[in-house]
Amino acid sequence: MNKKYRRVIIAGNWKMNMVPSQVHGFVEDLRAAMPERSNGCSVVLCVPATHLGALSREKQRRIGIGAQNISQFDKGAHTGEVSADMIADLGAKYCIVGHSERRADNGDTDELVNAKLRILLDHGITPILCVGESLDQRDRGLTMEHIRYQIKAALYALTAEQVKRVVIAYEPIWAIGTGRTATDEQAQEVCLAIREQLRAEYGALISRKVCILYGGSMNAGNCAGLLAQPDIDGGLIGGASLKVEDFAAIIREGSRA
Ligand code: 13P
Repeated sequence: MNKKYRRVIIAGNWKMNMVPSQVHGFVEDLRAAMPERSNGCSVVLCVPATHLGALSREKQRRIGIGAQNISQFDKGAHTGEVSADMIADLGAKYCIVGHSERRADNGDTDELVNAKLRILLDHGITPILCVGESLDQRDRGLTMEHIRYQIKAALYALTAEQVKRVVIAYEPIWAIGTGRTATDEQAQEVCLAIREQLRAEYGALISRKVCILYGGSMNAGNCAGLLAQPDIDGGLIGGASLKVEDFAAIIREGSRA
């Protein structure tokens, strides 16, 4: 519908997989398998912090560098943490924030997500904000309420200009790593609701510009239908982003969308 206002983003989330020495071979193979022309489709790889240096050393990679998390602190005595400054110095232009796995494993609350998101924006890094409902919430008809709350909390106190720079990924928890994808209609319904929420809060100009991705068992076989939806502007891909052929097939579809 209004997709002409937005670019398509195909982002891989490697999660805690691969080792840094595998980055070079993967990028070479992916570059060879990617379509010649991007047609406005941005490709991003969100890798573990340990892999960022290797990814940034790849020349002419045609792949945006993304991280998976940052500390909520700027710097200092926070053993084991990685700051926004550090990932920016390694070339990161994107960073996932609020992934359901971090919310579950590491206690990333809505407040923390908001704090990290603001730090990313301050450092000129595009946040990829993940939201999504559990199966129990979906079964109880609480999907929209939950998503609305997560978005409101994550974007708390941001200006409209800042919101415009945020990428939102709708990732139903029940579809992540399960092989059970949301149907095209289910995914479109939530992505449209997110856009309507943005319109109500920040106006039509902003809501038209925000890229909204779908994530959750997206693969070469099901990506065409999802990417054809008017309010789905790309994908955040876990498992299939670890296989060159599968990821390249999704990129090809994204370059057509
Ligand atoms: P899968 O594609 O493996 O389901 O993972 C989706 C995801 O969590 C991306 O952030």
